[in-house]
Amino acid sequence: MHVSEIDTPRLVVDLDIMDRNLRRVADYAAQHGLRLRPHTKTHKSVRIGKLQLDSGAAGLTVAKVSEAEVMLGAEPADMLLAYPIIGHTKLERLMDVARRTRVTVALDSLVAARQLSDAAGAAAVELGVLAEVDVGLGRVGVAPGALLLELARCIDKLPHLTLEGITFYPGHIKDLDAGGLAALAQLSELLAGILADFRKAGIDTRIVSGGSTPTLFHSHEVQGLTEIRPGTYVFNDINTIRSGGCTLEDCAASILTTVVSTARPGHMIIDGGSKTFSSDRLANSSEVTFGHIVEAPGAKFHKMNEEHGYVDLAHAERGFQVGDRVHVIPNHICVAVNLHEKVYGLRGDTVETVWPVDGRGKLQ
Ligand SMILES: Cc1ncc(COP(=O)(O)O)c(C=O)c1O
Repeated sequence: MHVSEIDTPRLVVDLDIMDRNLRRVADYAAQHGLRLRPHTKTHKSVRIGKLQLDSGAAGLTVAKVSEAEVMLGAEPADMLLAYPIIGHTKLERLMDVARRTRVTVALDSLVAARQLSDAAGAAAVELGVLAEVDVGLGRVGVAPGALLLELARCIDKLPHLTLEGITFYPGHIKDLDAGGLAALAQLSELLAGILADFRKAGIDTRIVSGGSTPTLFHSHEVQGLTEIRPGTYVFNDINTIRSGGCTLEDCAASILTTVVSTARPGHMIIDGGSKTFSSDRLANSSEVTFGHIVEAPGAKFHKMNEEHGYVDLAHAERGFQVGDRVHVIPNHICVAVNLHEKVYGLRGDTVETVWPVDGRGKLQ
């Protein structure tokens, strides 16, 4: 099938770029002795999970139990649920996953730890646990210091759970400018202090799990880090470019769209809006744009309705007619992927393969 036969709007992936992204990160992790457990939230596809494992990932990371169920299809040696799992229904489903692969859960409360311990006991399975520490994002995770040590000690005492170490997500470091690099250095100091506290308290931290795509290639500079969980790196997006974490040449995924109207002079409408791209604005910027138009980078994709993308052509490098097709690289690829049923994998102008977004809409 030729790319021109793809109906739009569709999520398309340049397979050469994706393969290179997978290889580069696997090589980086191997070179620095870092365990790679990629977050599959970005691609939500068994096919890519398998590729990540084949290219050197030790296991896979998911946020939700329903994603874990899907990713069992990739046959990972272990799975990290990087999200607190709360409530009977989720825990029962998680125990089924734990019967099929080794499971580790990140959590930040005794409530979550006790529920997990009880569920593991009832199901006669053993689970790993990472105590989550907040290193600056202010989302989940207890504060470093006494609270974290207390959480770790309590987890350690609960039956059917093994405290494997600590986890954090450095999502507050979005730009690798001087400020971002200083924040990374601070994070490194903070971790060194946390790990010294754990050693003093006689608590083992076999795993120190962190890492995001923007900070990815600086992971080896973070003292004590043993594992990285990047997700976005497989495709990359405009936010990652803006953070300094990749270049346009590293963006593997885009949405192929068709120009459906040029009725308004100086503007065009493409056949994708918020139901195709999500409404995610640029991270860390007040600029209102929703993606990069590959065929005319000067064009400004500035507004969306559900099925309409508004593009201002005042500074576009070329003109467009109804029926022209343009590739748009989304601001945030993870949320865009979740809106699509399938991914069209391209080698040059040929559709080499099509795969389903298996974890699409898996939110529980
Ligand atoms: C807990 C956790 N780990 C890892 C990641 C992956 O980070 P990135 O999307 O920057 O690759 C995320 C992303 O949201 C996350 O929430």
